[in-house]
Amino acid sequence: MKTRIGILTGGGDCPGLNAVIRAVVIAAAKNAWTTFGFLGGFEGLLNPVRARVLDPDDMDGLLFLGGTILGTSNSGRFAAKVGHGEKREIDHAVIVEAKGNFDRLGLRALVVVGGDGSLSIAQQLHDGGVPVVGVPKTIDNDIAGTTVTFGFDTAVSFATDALDRLRCTAASHERVLVCEMMGRYAGWIAAHSGIAGGADAILIPEIPFNIERVCEKIREREKDGKRHSLVVVAEGARQDGGEFVTQGAPAAGIGPGGGAFREARLGGVATMVADEIQKRTGKETRVCVLGHLQRGGVPTTFDRMLCTRFGVGAVRLISEERFGVMVASVPPDTIGIPLQEAIGRLSTVPPDGDIVRTGRALGISFGD
Ligand code: F6P
Repeated sequence: MKTRIGILTGGGDCPGLNAVIRAVVIAAAKNAWTTFGFLGGFEGLLNPVRARVLDPDDMDGLLFLGGTILGTSNSGRFAAKVGHGEKREIDHAVIVEAKGNFDRLGLRALVVVGGDGSLSIAQQLHDGGVPVVGVPKTIDNDIAGTTVTFGFDTAVSFATDALDRLRCTAASHERVLVCEMMGRYAGWIAAHSGIAGGADAILIPEIPFNIERVCEKIREREKDGKRHSLVVVAEGARQDGGEFVTQGAPAAGIGPGGGAFREARLGGVATMVADEIQKRTGKETRVCVLGHLQRGGVPTTFDRMLCTRFGVGAVRLISEERFGVMVASVPPDTIGIPLQEAIGRLSTVPPDGDIVRTGRALGISFGD
């Protein structure tokens, strides 16, 4: 029988997932391997198994197609994180069921394309006897051990473009525009796009903010005759001593069959910031939430390249029989690092690092 491998995409979707699938399937076919794609994220590994053979001849067009042809999920029996990122052990019976199905399909390895939560499930599957290779995905860019995750560059490009547009309308109407961006507990998207988009203030989770400092910046600009301002707020930003701003009911932890385990939904901090700015400065202040627009669309050239290198790298690690590892970009190479190194900690924006120092040197306020 030909060697068989499996692949699935887990967690929130992200530009470039299909480009990774394409690279894995084509590189595997060059080794005369067959690739099975599991549908609906990790749930596809459970009974009834939802899997289909991925034909290399069907990969045309996937390089630039957003979303994931395999589908994905970040809640349910395989949710690895709840609340504000607290890790959760997957039920042992679920791991055993997945391993049984993996063995019945005669697979040699499983490629898990996912973020921090999915990679921690990958580690648990690996501990349960499934030979796993991880691929780091997330627009949030918060996975340790790799200099960058795929999807981030596309999200930042979109966010920067949005700021360019918001700057024009803010200037025309002499308003303050507050733009909220994704990123969970890391401010990478906000910091990069904020600097590239010429924001006047950038609020990130790594630097708790004081709303009065943000208002001072706006008043200062006003004195200089600049009657509009652009404020970027990461969804995980919070006031010094304050709580994260979340949406909807608190994360449920009900369990299989009765509901879904899932993380808290961040969102709404921009509205709070805008209300305070308007109240304290008297400036008309509007909010724009970029939301899921950051996760959709065509991956940038940089991301297509990264996805392709990651996919090919994952197949190389399988052929070297290296499991329980994740492909990582460590320029100039794509290497394999232990999954444990990636999932143990989040990569966040260093508050005293070059990015923040660059912003401060330009007079950008970080609200502190
Ligand atoms: O992790 C990616 C991400 O897009 C975060 O930036 C955001 O907080 C979260 O997923 C949103 O997830 P959902 O679409 O499930 O609400």
